[in-house]
Amino acid sequence: MEPASGLTRGLVERLGKASNLAVLTGAGVSQESGVPTFRGEDGLWRECRAEELATWQAFETDPHLVWSWYDYRRQLVADAEPNPAHRAIADLESAFPEFTLMTQNTDGLHSRAGSRAVVELHGSIWRARCTHEPCVNWRNPCELRESPLREIPPHCPACGALLRPDVVWYGEPIPVKAYERSHVVAMNCDAMLVIGTSAIVHPAASLPLVARHSGALVVEINTTYTPISALVDATLLGRAGDIMPELVARLVDVLGPAERPTVGPARKPTLA
Ligand code: OAD
Repeated sequence: MEPASGLTRGLVERLGKASNLAVLTGAGVSQESGVPTFRGEDGLWRECRAEELATWQAFETDPHLVWSWYDYRRQLVADAEPNPAHRAIADLESAFPEFTLMTQNTDGLHSRAGSRAVVELHGSIWRARCTHEPCVNWRNPCELRESPLREIPPHCPACGALLRPDVVWYGEPIPVKAYERSHVVAMNCDAMLVIGTSAIVHPAASLPLVARHSGALVVEINTTYTPISALVDATLLGRAGDIMPELVARLVDVLGPAERPTVGPARKPTLA
């Protein structure tokens, strides 16, 4: 009998044949760590929606409000732990000859789970950069780890101007290197897992479609259907924290012990 999630043996075998696996994640992957998603019912903060806070206009109007929201999210994440989905994704990294994790998340939980090379499409809440253009910290973000923040809004240690979170806000382009790298990966991977994203914020949402168009097997893992569900090869409905460990365990069965995913130095096994 096939498992309820739709994770059939045929699908696992097709994934196991990939030599270049890409993974794209969104807020749903951190939901089971207690970090609210953006568009879920728990995404509201002081009656504000993320779309109203994550903009340059909101920051210009009320930097204290915007930084208070980031301070709240940073504290949530600081108290959170990576969940089984983060850990299963980290385990996959060592099991494929080529592997790339691309995330829209800014929380750093993938790295804390052991993922080594993470393409951050939307930046990181653990960095900040100066808003004053000639400042040395304008293009070079600085680490900002303290939580809770001592000063809200925080100021640049170099020039005293306002700092902003080193994240991508609505209406802003994603970092050029992350954009280019993610498109190369989408065009060249032979399988992509799309985990816990509503797939409505571009350009990240177009990556599964680029991969599919380039001939990759694209499998979505989400608690609900999304706008890309009809365009991908399979949607596994359920929680990432349940499906991802199951997927890794089933891949181990298919690949055999030699290709068993391990957390540790990356190996480059040859997959059938
Ligand atoms: P969203 O909040 O838009 O979507 C989260 C998705 O995760 C939804 O499709 C949920 O159904 C799904 N989900 C929730 N819990 C899940 C679970 N336990 N397992 C699997 N799936 C689950 O978050 P994103 O798609 O990441 O951008 O949002 C994209 C971007 O919009 C964010 O990076 C952020 C936001 O505005 C910027 O800040 C630029």
